Amino acid sequence: MISFVWAEDADKIIGQNGSLPWKLPNDMKRFKDLTTGNTIVMGRRTYESFPNGPLPNRRNIVISRNNEYQVKSPAELINSKEELSKVTKSDEDIMVIGGKTIFQMFLDDVDILYVTKIHHEFVGDTKMVDIDYNKFKLTEKKEGTMDEKNIYPYTFETYKKIN
Ligand SMILES: NC(=O)c1ccc[n+]([C@@H]2O[C@H](COP(=O)([O-])OP(=O)(O)OC[C@H]3O[C@@H](n4cnc5c(N)ncnc54)[C@H](OP(=O)(O)O)[C@@H]3O)[C@@H](O)[C@H]2O)c1
Repeated sequence: MISFVWAEDADKIIGQNGSLPWKLPNDMKRFKDLTTGNTIVMGRRTYESFPNGPLPNRRNIVISRNNEYQVKSPAELINSKEELSKVTKSDEDIMVIGGKTIFQMFLDDVDILYVTKIHHEFVGDTKMVDIDYNKFKLTEKKEGTMDEKNIYPYTFETYKKIN
């Protein structure tokens, strides 16, 4: 099973200058809850956006064309999508966490979408890929709670592929 996990703004912006355009701790918590104990797959630029290297308590797989690129242990480096199926089990749940180029790579394979929609417009240089939502069914929708640390309105949504 392949899932996408991401957050986007009202204009589908996901990144700015190699990092997230916003601070939304409640979304970070959802991301942690969804991905902990699972396998996360990310592009080299997204990996470099993590200040402390691999995220703990998850299998971190980083994709780069550069086979000499050094990832910090216990992260693992692969050089292509094809290599992913060699290093993972067929029943392993794979959570693709971005960025844009890696979402594009798995667009035809994704089964579940976990998206946080932030109802605000940010300045950004990276947008989410176009997803054909006609191929998916909304299975969960939850309004986010706002407080002094979570100042933007947002919604957590889950979609499952229609077979
Ligand atoms: N809002 C969110 O949920 C979210 C999630 C993730 C990321 N982001 C943001 O998105 C931005 C990064 O996204 P991005 O699209 O620029 O970069 P990315 O997808 O994270 O990484 C791109 C890199 O992946 C490698 N790659 C791409 N296609 C490949 C292929 N076919 N074969 C092998 N390697 C390949 C290349 O690495 P090499 O150059 O090393 O070859 C490429 O430079 C950042 O601002 C980040 O914070 C946001």
